[in-house]
Amino acid sequence: MKVYLDNAATTPIDPLVFEAMIPVLKDGFGNPSSTHSHGRKVKSVIERARKNVARHLNCSPGEIFFTSGGTEADNMAIQSSVRDLGVKHIITSSIEHHAVGHTIDQLKREGLVEVTYVHLDEMGHVDLQHLDQILSISPKTLVSLMHANNEVGNLLSLERVSEICEKHGAVFHSDTVQTMAHYRFDMEVIDKVHFMACSAHKFHGPKGVGFLYVNSKVKINPLIHGGAQERNMRGGTENVYGIVGLSMAMDVALSDVNAHKEYITGLKLHMIERLNQSIPNVSYNADSEHLTRSLYTVLSVSLPPTDIASMLVFNMDIMGVACSGGSACTSGASTGSHVLQGIDAPEARPTIRFSFSRFNTKEEVDYAVDCLVELYS
Ligand SMILES: Cc1ncc(COP(=O)(O)O)c(C=O)c1O
Repeated sequence: MKVYLDNAATTPIDPLVFEAMIPVLKDGFGNPSSTHSHGRKVKSVIERARKNVARHLNCSPGEIFFTSGGTEADNMAIQSSVRDLGVKHIITSSIEHHAVGHTIDQLKREGLVEVTYVHLDEMGHVDLQHLDQILSISPKTLVSLMHANNEVGNLLSLERVSEICEKHGAVFHSDTVQTMAHYRFDMEVIDKVHFMACSAHKFHGPKGVGFLYVNSKVKINPLIHGGAQERNMRGGTENVYGIVGLSMAMDVALSDVNAHKEYITGLKLHMIERLNQSIPNVSYNADSEHLTRSLYTVLSVSLPPTDIASMLVFNMDIMGVACSGGSACTSGASTGSHVLQGIDAPEARPTIRFSFSRFNTKEEVDYAVDCLVELYS
């Protein structure tokens, strides 16, 4: 049996997305910047996709800038805030994705910003009181905090954080790569968020395409220079079929988002029950077990110490189960996971992250648990 339970890393493409991309790959070869009919045709395809994405987010099409994915979108938001919005101080957390963490590290190395790490509580959630406190003594600040953590699943309240940021006049960027098209966003409701990042391959779309939402209240300059694409904001011939795939992937995901959420939550719950029954002393990292304070697609399992800790994911793969692993260990050859270290996960306990999609079944979950039980016996 082959089971794919690594959907937080990437997802299989939805057949409807694939179908939508084929005609563009076959016939939509024009350069969107060309003024002849071939160019105009694909240019209108891009603008239709932009309008469609904006409709899903209830924002203006002018607030959507297509990128090569989540990493570029995060870089654009953070680097532009420093260069164009006068940001001299960044508040972030120790458990952000490297697309955010390493970008901020680089700006710090260049001497362009001071960085403060907000405290996390005992469940790995951002301490909002501490955020409020450090913001009150720091002008010209960018707050960059992810909506959901890709390793442990902890969710952040965008409403509450954006209100705190507005109170102190801070710019707020959220890496929403793990939540975009898994939850509904209404940008008229969360209108104090300034930047949000998206990556299509996290919701059954193609790789190499995403977007940055830029609230119309903030004005930034391009990060990538070249042609006049993306209204002069990002040079480079557009990834037309990718953009079409992204737009269709959003349609499919959001057409039935509540049903998908319910179904996937059922899979997660089923795995928790099966693991609790079959592996003594199993537990869950941060707030991963919680059904509303954690991403419904992610379960970060903390396993009892074992001699084969470093081989667990490899052995699961041999048995046909794709998942991902990690540890908080900082010794030896492996540097471990900065997220597990950030939440103070016990070093001796190996972690396996299972992440689900609507294409998974309970039988697959059962098989994955059976494999893990076999490795532990
Ligand atoms: C939270 C988060 N941010 C950013 C990224 C990077 O996205 P991309 O692969 O599109 O560059 C990922 C993907 O692993 C992610 O999980």
